[in-house]
Amino acid sequence: MDTFVIHGGSPFSGSVQIAGAKNAALPILAASILGGGPVSLANVPEVSDVRSMLELLSGLGAEVGELRNGRLALSTQGVTRSETAYDIVRRMRASFLVLAPLVARFGQARISRPGGCAIGTRPVDLHLEALRKLGADVAFEAGEIDVTAPQGLTGARIVFPTPSVGATHTALMAAASAKGESEIVNCAREPEIADTAAFLSAMGATIEGAGTHKILVQGTNAWRPARHTILPDRIEAASYMVAAGLTGGRVEVIGGRLEHLGAACHLLEAAGLSIFPSDRGLIAERTGALHSVDVTTEAFPGFPTDLQAQFMTLMCLADGASVIREGIFEQRFMHVPELQRMGADITLSGSAATVRGVPRLQGTQVMATDLRASMSLVLAGLVAEGETVVHRVYHLDRGYEDIQGKLTRCGARIERVRQ
Ligand code: EPZ
Repeated sequence: MDTFVIHGGSPFSGSVQIAGAKNAALPILAASILGGGPVSLANVPEVSDVRSMLELLSGLGAEVGELRNGRLALSTQGVTRSETAYDIVRRMRASFLVLAPLVARFGQARISRPGGCAIGTRPVDLHLEALRKLGADVAFEAGEIDVTAPQGLTGARIVFPTPSVGATHTALMAAASAKGESEIVNCAREPEIADTAAFLSAMGATIEGAGTHKILVQGTNAWRPARHTILPDRIEAASYMVAAGLTGGRVEVIGGRLEHLGAACHLLEAAGLSIFPSDRGLIAERTGALHSVDVTTEAFPGFPTDLQAQFMTLMCLADGASVIREGIFEQRFMHVPELQRMGADITLSGSAATVRGVPRLQGTQVMATDLRASMSLVLAGLVAEGETVVHRVYHLDRGYEDIQGKLTRCGARIERVRQ
């Protein structure tokens, strides 16, 4: 397992090309099953989660071209199998997103029940409830989930008890193929939902309201070949903005968009960053001292849970105490013990972490545990005194394209050591 060796102290300054959003690419690749025809995608991030999804689609019978410079051509005409094995779902939970398109296209699908992961139990009940509402039958058998809809899916009103990104994608893809109209209420409003809806519309679906709390979908079975460009990854952009804030640098995130940051923009500014649009994206720079800011992670447009760990690193060096509450997942504080090893002053109490700013962090050996926690440790290494060795960097490869290249080009001293 490779490690990153980072020598802290250099300001993070320069321009970073933001890749396509992993969390849009994954549902869009799953949705391509619906069309059963050729699809041409651009700005697809070259990260291991995307490669896992392409491997899954190939295993189901899709013809997948080479992913190069963000461009990908694939056809799901050859998809015949509607079963996905446990090992793929275990390796990447987002594989669960293929369930709805498989049921919609073949009338049945069998998928392994995804287990929990480092950040929580990650249930899928909301996905299954949405499919039931659209007329599917769901049965459980020894860790597998059998979903059948022999008469096809029928439009319905789906009201989510709580916004769920994945379950909203599932409902959207299923409703797009159902007979008649569906209304999806209290759905997730993340920008990636609107991007998936745009792709489904390019393939022939009729969808209104994606990105709001209510989406209207007119089902179709008249799918057509589609082209789509994936939207930029807002979490990648914000992670590099935090790097500039931590190290007193100035970064241009090419492709970054203010409207995709939601509450994160305001909270990053309150913490001491200046953020403003450039003609290619956004610029973020540190304007003075870092200030402690209280944060609770929420569904979009609230502060994103995927930025919580990175923001915590920023608060480790702020001028007071901040309380960071994780409002989405039950155990997304795996980065805390590692940051404490670097000298951070953090106290955990249930879903809240109190971070008291310290003058500096010390480099040491730390362990990556999940994608975003790993980024918080890399960010800490950029500003820590001395050398930081981050173990198990494969977690980062899941969602940050060319992270070493992008960091190095902005002044970071980081080396990947192959184990
Ligand atoms: C998506 O996960 C993202 N993954 C996550 O990003 C992100 O953290 C999360 O949304 C929240 O924004 C992808 O898009 C591939 P949820 P998802 O359903 O869909 C509960 C990353 O680092 N819930 O919005 O699984 C759930 O337990 C990853 O890129 C149910 O109770 O998240 C959580 O508490 C990590 N039942 C809350 O809803 C369900 O059926 C929100 O989860 C589904 C979810």
